[in-house]
Amino acid sequence: MESTNMKIGIIGAGAMGSGIAQIAATQEHTVVITDTHRSALDKSQKGHAKILARLVEKGRLEQGQDHEILRRISYSTNLNDLAECDLIIEAVVENLAVKKEIFKNLSDLAKPDAILASNTSSLSIASIGAAVEDASRVIGIHFFNPAPLMPLVEIIPAISTAPEVTKKAKEMIDAWGKTTVLAKDTPGFIVNRLARPFYGEAVRIYEEGLADPATIDWAITELGGFRMGPFTLMDFIGHDVNYAVTETVFKAFYFDPRYRPNFTQKRLVEAGWLGRKTGRGFYNYAEETDNPQPQKDEELGQHILWRILVMLINEAADALYLNIASAEDIDLAMTKGVNYPKGLLAWANEKGIAHCVETLDRLQSEYGEDRYRCSPLLRKMARENTTFKL
Ligand SMILES: NC(=O)c1ccc[n+]([C@@H]2O[C@H](COP(=O)([O-])OP(=O)(O)OC[C@H]3O[C@@H](n4cnc5c(N)ncnc54)[C@H](O)[C@@H]3O)[C@@H](O)[C@H]2O)c1
Repeated sequence: MESTNMKIGIIGAGAMGSGIAQIAATQEHTVVITDTHRSALDKSQKGHAKILARLVEKGRLEQGQDHEILRRISYSTNLNDLAECDLIIEAVVENLAVKKEIFKNLSDLAKPDAILASNTSSLSIASIGAAVEDASRVIGIHFFNPAPLMPLVEIIPAISTAPEVTKKAKEMIDAWGKTTVLAKDTPGFIVNRLARPFYGEAVRIYEEGLADPATIDWAITELGGFRMGPFTLMDFIGHDVNYAVTETVFKAFYFDPRYRPNFTQKRLVEAGWLGRKTGRGFYNYAEETDNPQPQKDEELGQHILWRILVMLINEAADALYLNIASAEDIDLAMTKGVNYPKGLLAWANEKGIAHCVETLDRLQSEYGEDRYRCSPLLRKMARENTTFKL
């Protein structure tokens, strides 16, 4: 299979499917995008025309290139139109039954050597693959939102995926100019697993009354160098979406207290305070003047930053310990997928492994909660006085 001029199929013309279709067509592939709703396809087509025209205006595409790219994309309500595709990427609603039904149909209609991929954020690739007669050609290819702008793509082989399929999928997505990382088929893959404490520990600090959202966001952005604070980010993602992911990850990890959701966010969802999209979440977007100003206390800010950071570092170390990904891919995933200012393992080296262990042990002894248990890898490294090899 050549990685140039292939036929790419996309299922689901929503935010992710449309973005992935745009990338593939820009890479000179022929693209067929399908959706059960004609209205979604129309919206996607209009969206493509508008975005591509804007890229011409900005000089990122040459005059006329937008029309060429658009001509390579066809929009269809018929799944059978994917019969000739070399790679099919599914990006429909996050519902296992719906996805399995689609993959069952693909099993019969796709070319026998076509790679069948899912863009799922949280479902197991093995369970999706089980719907296909030849599960060895099913793989996870997880883009980030907005797909054309975010450089990271997680490649997730299931236990049933053929190594050759993993290799080909990685080569194809690398050829699209993306940064690919390999992740084990476990809940949240790399990014959505490692990022849990960014939200969870921030809310916990707020619940304890240590600081308000504005102060925590200030510490994380101004002192930590993150682009967005956790409360601003949760409001941006939407609490319905963010809370659902937290709950899914918690259940998927057999109720490990490290991933326990919180009542604060649950109440926001119940009240319909979903964030930016409803005008109110942790912050009020209708009356911005209502929002409190951060308490810019450097000592408090550093304390907050370190408590969240050490929990993120612990997740990253544990993911390495459990072979979820390589050290290099773990750090690449967080810098390229969610714009962290530094890789978490590199940050751990800089802060000192022993310092991380001391902080986690102190938190665990103070709270008596398993949530703060230190990764065995960090403990071993502190004992042996080693650092992460990156
Ligand atoms: N939005 C994100 O930030 C993001 C990021 C990474 C991955 N994902 C994953 O990508 C997938 C799609 O997410 P999205 O945000 O683009 O969703 P979306 O709701 O914007 O779009 C989903 C589309 O799928 C269509 N659809 C539903 N059932 C279908 C079916 N049976 N056959 C064909 N089309 C069908 C819908 O009409 C809709 O147009 C999900 O699995 C999600 O978890 C989302």
